[in-house]
Amino acid sequence: GKVAVLMGGSSAERQVSLMSGNGVLEALRRAGVDAQPFDPAERELAELKHAGFERAFIALHGRHGEDGTVQGALELLRIPYTGSGVMASAIAMDKVMTKRIWAAEGLPTPRWAWLSPEHQAREDVVAVPDKLGLPLIVKPPREGSSIGITKVAGYSEMQDAVKLASEYDADVLCEEFIDGIEVTCAVLGEGASARALPVIRIVAPGGNYDFEHKYFSEETGYHCPSGLPPAEEAEIQRLTLAAYRLLGCRGWGRADLMIRESDRKPFLLEMNTSPGMTSHSLVPLAARVAGMSYEQLCVHVLECAAL
Ligand code: DAL
Ligand code: MG
Repeated sequence: GKVAVLMGGSSAERQVSLMSGNGVLEALRRAGVDAQPFDPAERELAELKHAGFERAFIALHGRHGEDGTVQGALELLRIPYTGSGVMASAIAMDKVMTKRIWAAEGLPTPRWAWLSPEHQAREDVVAVPDKLGLPLIVKPPREGSSIGITKVAGYSEMQDAVKLASEYDADVLCEEFIDGIEVTCAVLGEGASARALPVIRIVAPGGNYDFEHKYFSEETGYHCPSGLPPAEEAEIQRLTLAAYRLLGCRGWGRADLMIRESDRKPFLLEMNTSPGMTSHSLVPLAARVAGMSYEQLCVHVLECAAL
């Protein structure tokens, strides 16, 4: 039956989603799937039903795409969709909620402070470095692709960083900076049968893996195999699977982590439930190293579509 590739949408990651969606669309077509693009920013989602779509591949990123809202609409329309369900999507979209759950279950995540709008007044903001140390990371809790993120080096930079993050989200997340190695680990499947793909070690110029270095730079290094000691690689995969299961994720996902240089301790930063599928994206790379082509990955994710 017909498959809708949901792409575009209205979040700040719209352009990334269009790149992901076009890649997925073409791959599914090459694999013989009757796939068509569908942009929820341009059409009512309810049209999916009238147009005869039987499944949806969600290639949307960010809010109103990755956050449980589209998933909820598809539940009501009774159209099976790829990836996590409503609850896991909603939790994973919110980095603060995610960290609360991981921390409550003893999974390592950097220390943090959460600034609601009432706490974005100057005295609360400048108190954060006392708690978390410097440098620290300031980010909007419900964004992706490094949008709105600042690495703060001194007290005087705090207010601007909080202001920038608050342009994307009412709440602001401040996070302890983990100095070390940036890694990512993808997961395919669900529950007990979920499996982790090989870890990717990311080396961005100047240690700055920002929007430009994520999607456009040819200088960002993606190492897979990671080159990490096997025991460390296995520990990253174990932690990622635990983090994925704890949030109740399904289908596929990708955790981003840091390994602290000083003691090699890994920390979970976030879980992405609708990972990027652009030419520079990470899940396709890890899948390829595991022997799965981009097309096979798309078909596999589609086959896990559920309600
Ligand atoms: N938020 C981007 C799309 C990612 O995690 O790949
Ligand atoms: Mg993300």
